Amino acid sequence: MSKPYVFITMKIPDEAIEKLSEVAHVSVWEGDSPVSRQRLLDEVQKADALLCMLTDSIDQQILDNGTHLKIVANMAVGYDNIAIPYAAEKGIVVTNTPEVLSEATADLTFALMLTTARRIVEASSFLRNGEWTSWSPLLLAGQDVYDATLGIIGMGRIGEGVARRAKGFDMRVLYYNRTRKKHAEERLGVEYCELDSLLKEADFVVVLTPLTSETKGLISTNQFKAMKKNAIFINTSRGAVVDEEALYQALLEKEIWGAGLDVFQQEPVSTEHPLLQLPNVVTLPHIGSASIKTRTEMALLAAENIIAVLQNKKPITPVC
Ligand code: DGY
Repeated sequence: MSKPYVFITMKIPDEAIEKLSEVAHVSVWEGDSPVSRQRLLDEVQKADALLCMLTDSIDQQILDNGTHLKIVANMAVGYDNIAIPYAAEKGIVVTNTPEVLSEATADLTFALMLTTARRIVEASSFLRNGEWTSWSPLLLAGQDVYDATLGIIGMGRIGEGVARRAKGFDMRVLYYNRTRKKHAEERLGVEYCELDSLLKEADFVVVLTPLTSETKGLISTNQFKAMKKNAIFINTSRGAVVDEEALYQALLEKEIWGAGLDVFQQEPVSTEHPLLQLPNVVTLPHIGSASIKTRTEMALLAAENIIAVLQNKKPITPVC
């Protein structure tokens, strides 16, 4: 019997390709930018399994082309790039990569909090640009992280990781989630509150909720107006959870103090983007889970999901 065919839409760590190659013919898109739509349509037509990235739009047309496609393994925890109900209707398994990336993403979220609050990027450029002429009392003075109040919107595994880190900084941690997490409250000493109260009380508002039809545009003008003037807004989930125009206005009009963003509505973001022109914004190119160990584990988990499905076993981390 001939081996199944797996198409991988970007270069991933070798370990995962080797694992897949034991059971399948594997082809990898070697380009540095995402695979073209036409190539993806062509590959999906031949594929038994697709290992894809959050940059690939796996919509109805792609799924329809996969006449013998059994699984779409997304190398990300978020899966807003995939038409999940349609895949479910067609009996195509979709998997994601939860847990393995929680700690790395929590690290990055905390790093963004510290970097934004203490103006690290601005301070570094200031020094390198030769602007440092003297020490002075309020030079590049920022906000305290230690002992501040943190508000986490979306208390999943990454949220819990951020809360654990925050406890080491003696922070009061509030959270808002669709369902209350009593276990997290007991274990981590975090306090549940409604979104409005969280926005009013938090010095740091951190968005970690997945992008769904309910969370799209969740944080907009009214939410920014409700925040403290010294509030720092952090987003490491998905750009579309936030109304970027409203965020820009809030920063410009000093409704809030600063923002740290790892994600944008349109990625890659243009250097002309208004948010990149503001000094009180730290911007990163969607690197939440980008540690070598984590990205390797994500690729391996995606590969293991594919192998399980190709061997008629249950996937490890199914979405549908
Ligand atoms: C995810 O897995 O959804 C992350 O955004 C990738 O870094």
